[in-house]
Amino acid sequence: MQIKVLTTPITQVSCNTLIINLFEESTILDKATGMIDKALHGHINTLISEQPDCGKYGEITIIHTWGAIGAKHIMVLGMGKKTELTTDKICALSAIAMRTAQKRHAKSVATMISALDTERYDLQTTTEAIVEGAILGTYQFNYYKTNQPTPDSIEKFIIIENKAEKKAIITKGIQRAEIIGESVNLARDLVNHPAIYMTPTQMALHAQEIAEQNNLEILILEKADMEKENMHALLSVAKGSFQPPKMIVLKYIGDASNHHFTAFVGKGVTFDSGGISIKPSLNMNEMKSDMAGGATVLGTMLGIGKLKPKINILGIIPCTENMPSGHAYKPGDVISSMSGKTIEIITTDAEGRLILADAITYAQQLGATQIIDIATLTGACVVALGNIASGLVSNNKDLCSQVLAASVSTGEKMWEMPNFAEYKEQIKSDIADLKNSGGRMAGTITAGLFIAQFVNDIPWVHIDIAGTADSNKNSGYNVKGGTGVGVRTLIQLAQNMGTK
Ligand code: BES
Ligand code: MN
Ligand code: ZN
Repeated sequence: MQIKVLTTPITQVSCNTLIINLFEESTILDKATGMIDKALHGHINTLISEQPDCGKYGEITIIHTWGAIGAKHIMVLGMGKKTELTTDKICALSAIAMRTAQKRHAKSVATMISALDTERYDLQTTTEAIVEGAILGTYQFNYYKTNQPTPDSIEKFIIIENKAEKKAIITKGIQRAEIIGESVNLARDLVNHPAIYMTPTQMALHAQEIAEQNNLEILILEKADMEKENMHALLSVAKGSFQPPKMIVLKYIGDASNHHFTAFVGKGVTFDSGGISIKPSLNMNEMKSDMAGGATVLGTMLGIGKLKPKINILGIIPCTENMPSGHAYKPGDVISSMSGKTIEIITTDAEGRLILADAITYAQQLGATQIIDIATLTGACVVALGNIASGLVSNNKDLCSQVLAASVSTGEKMWEMPNFAEYKEQIKSDIADLKNSGGRMAGTITAGLFIAQFVNDIPWVHIDIAGTADSNKNSGYNVKGGTGVGVRTLIQLAQNMGTK
């Protein structure tokens, strides 16, 4: 989709669909819409008076223009109440409108910002919301479809702005949104590919490509390297699989004068069968997305490589399958870890925290001075927060509020769980230093606190995306399948850190 800003008069823009933003309480049309209304002999005003719901949030009404203006169709997009508008809603509404246009086979769509550019948001932020919505909302995953008609896709998206001085700001907004959109959609692709293709080896190949195209340093640890580093927690999970594990390390230097490194660590379980503690077969197919945290880190590193914030970042992704076999690790085993801590395996299905433990130990060995990990870690998080918000566990108020602040500005909802020391009782083992399951109660917190045992007194935030990494329906800027959740927040966080 080619995206550009034009100063063409609104009635002359030639396109298939022209989007008009209408607020719920609108009775008087803004200037541009008024011009269209005039050209259409008052059709829009008639619509508002005869169909008062057309301004309600997400409502879409199509009007054929019969050649009266350059656009073939007008799409009246209900924006809801003006006072309730947020950038997150602008993004979702843009997605809804564009997805509808795509379904109607439109090849070119135009829209206006002027009516939205309220005092609350600056023009660049508003532009970004519209363009991100357009890119994220029209995402399609067609790799495995054969003999299908060419999928519908919008080729041209035009933002109309008649004030020439605003063009530069809008162009800047488009550029950032295109990078963000590409980064999120990359993460979605990685999640949507089935496990038969998206093996640890493929994850590493994709990482290599991202590194080459964006000037990032890359290091891939093979199984033999992991053995040298004593990464027995990761190796134990990998034992049951035919697929060799990979530890992906990406490095971005945005501030060479600084020795601080923020590490983004993403869980890369390319298929989680549960291992010997095998999962029920119902919905087990969904466990191809258990590498979503890793996909988020890869998408984030792509965006960071292009946006170049003034900060140093490590992207670390431990990748493996979790499979049952004669070689698999077993419930009751006691395993070691890179940190030296021993772990009693209560269930082989609590594998994510094991591979993250070694990845976090390794991150610190590589010089990380603060860590954010992101993982589809616990079913308990889905129970607690549903698919609306991701759950946080942290050891540091300051870093946690930075993550939360970034999430508020992107609209990716996150919520911090309590981390009272009492919860740690649940992961004490009788025969080892720790056990890998604290039972059903407070499962998200005890999983987080397990990971915390491998963090050596540096700021750390854990993001549990078990409920948010996948969507079971099209909704706002999410389409069914992988959501790429976390990419926008982590990029925002990196940029915030880079301007401090
Ligand atoms: N990958 C799963 C968590 C998960 C569940 C992600 C549902 C997405 C949707 C994780 O490895 C897991 O199996 N966790 C167990 C831990 C338990 C055995 C302590 C869980 O949540 O049931
Ligand atoms: Mn599991
Ligand atoms: Zn898992």
